[in-house]
Amino acid sequence: MDTSNRYGAFKKNKMILKIVKYPEPVLQQPGEPVTEFNGELKKLVADMFETMYASQGIGLAAPQVAVSKRVTVIDLSLGKDPAQKLVLINPEVILREGKQYEEEGCLSFPEIREKISRAAKVSIRAQNEKGKWFEMDGEELLSRAFQHEIDHLDGMLFIFRMSALKRDLVLRKIRKLQREGTW
Ligand code: NI
Repeated sequence: MDTSNRYGAFKKNKMILKIVKYPEPVLQQPGEPVTEFNGELKKLVADMFETMYASQGIGLAAPQVAVSKRVTVIDLSLGKDPAQKLVLINPEVILREGKQYEEEGCLSFPEIREKISRAAKVSIRAQNEKGKWFEMDGEELLSRAFQHEIDHLDGMLFIFRMSALKRDLVLRKIRKLQREGTW
């Protein structure tokens, strides 16, 4: 009946974006800093959450949806607890402490899981969707998510944090999946 409202709802609708896989070049390019905190950024963030939840991920960086910008979203609750939704714009790690060595995966490397050495605790600073700077500490899984996602914004992928031996095995597995047409 009311087409203008319907169009409005359509425009605001969240979209599931395509997640690009390795070796898509955008994944290895450093993202551009965000300078405009506008509706376009809000839409990107909302779409990134939608895309991440659809793939059961706990973190997603803009280069993974082929947007070369320093934007990442994290939600360790997989969408179950709105209080755990984190939006990090132009984030940087300002403090690293200790070591952890745990399994990690990445939505741009489906089916690949390997142990990666990371700092046990980190402090980060980032801007929110409105451009306001804030600082936050993370331990264990959150610390790992911060480091993994901020790496993405620098064009750094988790396979390059593995030993050369493990990386070769992973790359061989990817080539096999590519040949089978399942990558
Ligand atoms: Ni990743």
